[in-house]
Amino acid sequence: MDHTRTDFPDGFLFGVATSAYQIEGSQFGGAGPCHWDSFAATPGNVVRAEDGALACDHYHRWEEDLDLIAGLGAEVYRFSTSWARVLPDGVGQPNVEGLDFYDRLVDGMLARGIKPAATLYHWELPQPLADRGGWRNADMPEWFAEFTETVMRRIGDRVWSAAPINEPWCVGWLSHFDGAHAPGLRDIRATARAMHHILKSHGRSIEVMRGLGMKNLGAVCNFEWAEPASDAPEDQAAARRYDAIYNRFFLGGLFKGQYPAEVLEGLEPHLPDSWQDDFALIGQPLDWLGVNYYTRQRIRHKDGAWPNYEPAGPLLPLTQMGWEIYPDGLRDFLIRNARDYSGDLPIYVTENGMANADTPETPDTARIDYLNAHLHAVRQAMDARAPVAGYFVWSLMDNYEWSLGYEKRFGLIHVDFDSLARTPKASYDALARWWRDTPA
Ligand code: FCB
Repeated sequence: MDHTRTDFPDGFLFGVATSAYQIEGSQFGGAGPCHWDSFAATPGNVVRAEDGALACDHYHRWEEDLDLIAGLGAEVYRFSTSWARVLPDGVGQPNVEGLDFYDRLVDGMLARGIKPAATLYHWELPQPLADRGGWRNADMPEWFAEFTETVMRRIGDRVWSAAPINEPWCVGWLSHFDGAHAPGLRDIRATARAMHHILKSHGRSIEVMRGLGMKNLGAVCNFEWAEPASDAPEDQAAARRYDAIYNRFFLGGLFKGQYPAEVLEGLEPHLPDSWQDDFALIGQPLDWLGVNYYTRQRIRHKDGAWPNYEPAGPLLPLTQMGWEIYPDGLRDFLIRNARDYSGDLPIYVTENGMANADTPETPDTARIDYLNAHLHAVRQAMDARAPVAGYFVWSLMDNYEWSLGYEKRFGLIHVDFDSLARTPKASYDALARWWRDTPA
């Protein structure tokens, strides 16, 4: 790595991230079915119809995985708790085995000196709730409050931080408008309702956690830089619409008590009645903002119905995902989000990383370059006074990359999905040299 610990201030935290469905193995430990199981079982949704039933078998190998995190010298581990594992019916009777699992996991982190950063929901909606309309259902905030309370009564006294919902844009837009993630809908009304209910559920969850006396609560949103494909006014406007839907809708709700006009233009007729009255709940004070960042998208105008845009194709070098490598976008979001929304609140880069066609034999120098370039962007943002307080790599290990199955490798650790053997990659070694040898 090009960086040293002294490039970053004392107390700046480095970490790694994963999520439950992507690594645990949902067939174990009494977890209930979730909407990703049904989505994956529907031909055409997921590469080779792969699902998270086995994944990395982290459910049984968690101690080895925590040892690998400790070996890396990561100070924070961002993990998530599966709703379907903890409450197989979504509400009601908890699965004690599931709660025991997260209890052990948190204690295991603390025993190794790792700060547990919990995300409650990283996408495994229990199927019984999906059957009742999932995020479209106005009861979601109460169901989510029950889930929050069930998990945090058990581990809330020991987690270092907590966030309710990973990447509201993916849960709302990608899953209900684009149809690319579970439940795979392409329905504007479902999208509007889901997006609003996600924010209300976030607010209820924060309320519940505050009520339990928890501290260090935040929100984790994802961002994609929207680059107009040309100077033409209609391409510029299309990129602004894309930016509003992707990058400004959720922050607007969380920090400003309003939604961007470019989004209301399409979604307002479909929002629930009296949606304007919900911003007091949505805008609960937060302690930090999490920024997940990977890439930019070139956007041009498209004739037709709102939102009238389409991707204009990449120009820059790509990762295995086909995503452009564009570190300046991370720098600019860190600066812009602080300036326009979160102010002085600490910002954590809660996900950043790249997929690469790794084998255990070939050094993943492309990933080292990617991480270097993005850490440089973080430094630049901090030089411009953005209050960035930490940086967490996606991901600890290769895992289930949602609709792309097991093919896209994001890990610092290679996973052989037959033997489930873990092999640290060159990027793991490079970070470990840096993070371990020069402690804060
Ligand atoms: C993010 C998700 C994470 C992973 C990365 C590549 O959108 O939060 O689960 O899939 O992308």
